[in-house]
Amino acid sequence: PQASPTERPMRHFTPPQGWMNDPNGLVYHDGEYHLFYQYHPNSLVWGPMHWGHAVSRDLCHWQHLPVALTPDDDGMCFSGSAVVDRHDASGLFNGGEGLVAFYTAHRFMGDDEEHYEQEQHLAWSRDNGRSWHKYAGNPIIAPPGFCDFRDPKVIYHAPSGRWVMVLACGQHIRFYTSANLLDWQLASEFGDGQGCHTDGPWECPDLFELPLEGDQAEASRWILVVGVGIDHEGPQDTLGSFTQYFIGHFDGERFHNDYPDEPLLLMDQGRDFYAVQSFSDVPDRRLAIAWLNNWQYAGHTPEAGWRGAMTLPRTLHLVATDQGVRLHQRFADELDHGISPLDVACPGAPLTQGQHVLATPNADLVRGELTLVLTANSQLDFSLQQGTQQRLRLSTGDDTTEVVYRREGHSGVARFDQHFPGERLAGELDGRRIHLQWWVDRGSVEMLINGERRQLSVTLASFVAPHRHSITMEVHSGSAEIHDFRLDAG
Ligand code: FRU
Repeated sequence: PQASPTERPMRHFTPPQGWMNDPNGLVYHDGEYHLFYQYHPNSLVWGPMHWGHAVSRDLCHWQHLPVALTPDDDGMCFSGSAVVDRHDASGLFNGGEGLVAFYTAHRFMGDDEEHYEQEQHLAWSRDNGRSWHKYAGNPIIAPPGFCDFRDPKVIYHAPSGRWVMVLACGQHIRFYTSANLLDWQLASEFGDGQGCHTDGPWECPDLFELPLEGDQAEASRWILVVGVGIDHEGPQDTLGSFTQYFIGHFDGERFHNDYPDEPLLLMDQGRDFYAVQSFSDVPDRRLAIAWLNNWQYAGHTPEAGWRGAMTLPRTLHLVATDQGVRLHQRFADELDHGISPLDVACPGAPLTQGQHVLATPNADLVRGELTLVLTANSQLDFSLQQGTQQRLRLSTGDDTTEVVYRREGHSGVARFDQHFPGERLAGELDGRRIHLQWWVDRGSVEMLINGERRQLSVTLASFVAPHRHSITMEVHSGSAEIHDFRLDAG
């Protein structure tokens, strides 16, 4: 019998039961990656938020731990972050070290969902995150007089020797600084007139510095990441919630957008990449995980006693492209552990008009990779899963390739929300030599699509029955050479 399409993914994190949204408190400590998450354990829809908790040593297997934070009279425990307080800056650890988490306490005022208050709280752990104590001096930042004030991301800013907290405030970001993680001062704001083009509430900010790859001078930039939620009063855009980023400089107090006139920069062009957060305290790379979902339909996706998944962990990189500096992603190397090559044949001759089945892997977890060299003015559909379920249409000009993705959802279990299926322009790549890399797991397809220097990232939830997996290339015009075709299964 065929496995259910809501069977648990093999390499993507899912909650033990109930509802999950944003990743929270991502921190690496003592050989463990901690993943906390927005959690409503006894329900399949959003509600009073807890912080669920899991740890992993290899980013492939996650061990569930008891709930870390539960709602109380101060409110629900909304999204936030965590850091290692290595030198006891907070004084909470008797001169030793410990974990400090920051979250937003959210209180509804009366029984009207429109009226609420948000303030910043702290919790600490002396035992590797196994038990948590809410700080007696909460709130560490009181409500500012406006209601949307949430999702603290705390980082250590070495040049100024201070901690910085980034907060989403409606359609602004606020930066606070602190010497001891407990007392915070407002340093600056970022928003209107600084290159921000989006409607919808800003949520889940992140801030980090990355070296510019391949730059001899070792130049670096700061990246400010902002989730843009759904504006329930505004026109319902077909994209739903998405993740935007800004590139610039940060001096410890103020973020300066280097490209205020740039168009909107998206971290992922797909539909299911939201509330991304990077890990704190990972020494050698910027590692991030996002919620593999979209607020537009998150409450309706197929469930099996649990609902929601995280993306695979990816590393973030800054690359100079012909369009300017851009944020690129790679799947974390650890993900390759425990998968083994499948026997596949790379077509020797260029594929011409017609339908070509490249492989039919009989596995629920598949990692794939290939390079396509397209002739000018060609068009083809590259499909993963059941022929048409997930399709990329590549159309070349003389020296660019346009990428459109399409997700079906008219049949079976995928027919749960009118916003789920659809077609969208991902973007245009430079050149006609395209390197595709993807992971198919139960419940999702994640694709990184590279041109010569540009990259598109397309993350899509996909609720098709496992095992029904065929990789096809349908050439409509022109032709395509395929190189370095490789599949691995887990
Ligand atoms: C983003 C978000 C956050 C908030 C959390 C509540 O998905 O709306 O802004 O803290 O979810 O669960």
